[in-house]
Amino acid sequence: MYQLQRDAEQYSATATPAAAAAPNETTAKALENATLNPRFYTTDFDEMNRISVETVREQWDELIAEFRRDPNKDHFKRTAEFEADFSQLDPRLRREFIEFLTSSVTAEFSGCILYAEIKKRCRNQDVRDLFGVMSRDEGRHAGFINHVLNDFNVQVDLGFLTRAKKYTFFKPKYIYYATYLSEKIGYARYITIFRHFEQHPDKRFHPIFKWFENWCHDEFRHGEAFALLMRANPSVTAGLNRYWIRFFLLAVFSTMYVRDHLRRDFFGYMGIDVDDYDRRVIRLTSTISKQVFPLEIDLDNPAIWARFEKMYQLNKAMAEGKGGVLAKLKVAANFIGLFLTPVKDNAVPADVRMQPVW
Ligand SMILES: [Fe+2]
Ligand SMILES: [Fe+2]
Repeated sequence: MYQLQRDAEQYSATATPAAAAAPNETTAKALENATLNPRFYTTDFDEMNRISVETVREQWDELIAEFRRDPNKDHFKRTAEFEADFSQLDPRLRREFIEFLTSSVTAEFSGCILYAEIKKRCRNQDVRDLFGVMSRDEGRHAGFINHVLNDFNVQVDLGFLTRAKKYTFFKPKYIYYATYLSEKIGYARYITIFRHFEQHPDKRFHPIFKWFENWCHDEFRHGEAFALLMRANPSVTAGLNRYWIRFFLLAVFSTMYVRDHLRRDFFGYMGIDVDDYDRRVIRLTSTISKQVFPLEIDLDNPAIWARFEKMYQLNKAMAEGKGGVLAKLKVAANFIGLFLTPVKDNAVPADVRMQPVW
C-alpha cells in the first residue's frame, strides 16, 4: 500500500501531461474528463506554506497525534473472504460494481496525489505533518480498492493517471471547502452503506463493504483536519467567502445527487433506494458541516430537492445525447436557482472538533 504513496510523491514531481503508453480500457475510463468525474487538483503552495494553526494549537496537536497512532494501520488487510469466487455475480451488477470501484479509486488516488504534492512543496512543518499522514491514508484506500479491481481482472494504471490527467488549479481556500466537503460526504456515504448492510447482510455481495466502518473514520478525521485549518484561518469562512461556501455546498450536493441517480441500478442491486440514500447522506453532511460553516443549505425547503432532481433529469437527457447547448444553459440556470434559494444562518460551536457518532 505504501508503494502508492511513494508513487504519488515520485510522480508529483513531473505532474504534467506526458506521452505515455496507450492505457488499457479502464484507465481510459478513469481518464475521461467528464464534468462529473473526480478531478486532480493543484494549488498555490506558497500560500499554503504561510498557514498558521497557532490559534488551535492544542486541538491540532491532538489530531496529529491521533493520525500518528494510526488507528487503521492494520485495517486494510485482506482476508480469505476476498479470494471467494465472484464469477457468478450478475454481469450487470459486476459492470456497475467495477464502475463504482473505478470512480472510487480515482477519487482516493486524486486525494493521495494532492496531499503528497502539498507535503512535498511546503516547508511549513504543520502542513507537512498533516498532509503526509493524509496522503498515507488515501494511498492505502486506493491500494485496497485497486486490489479488488485486480481480482476482477481490471487494471487501473494509477501511475499513468497521474502523469496524463489534466490538473485543475484551485486556490487554497477552495481546496479547503471542496476537500473538507468531499471528506465529510465520503464519511457519510461509507457509513450509510455500512449501516444498510448491517440491516441487510444478505444484500452484501462483496466483503469490501465490511471494511467501510473503520475506513470512514479515516475520512472523518481528514475532514476534521480541514475544519481545524478553516477555524485557524477564520477569514476563509467570513465575509464574501460565505458565497463561496454556499456555492461549494450546492455543487457538492447536486453533483452527488446527479451521479448517484445516474447509477440508480447499482444502488438497486444493493437494495438501496437511491432517493432515500442521497437524502440521508446530504442531510448528514450538512449537519456535520455546521461545525465550521456559518450557513447551511435549507434542506427542509422542498424547492432545493426539486432543483437537485431537475439537475439529474437534465444531466440524464444530456447523457442520452439530448438537449445540446440548450440543456447546458438549463443546467446553469437551475444552478443559479439553487444558489438564489435562501440559506439558513448557522452559529458555529466554540469547539470545532466533532466525533463520528452516526
Ligand atoms: Fe480515502
Ligand atoms: Fe480522505
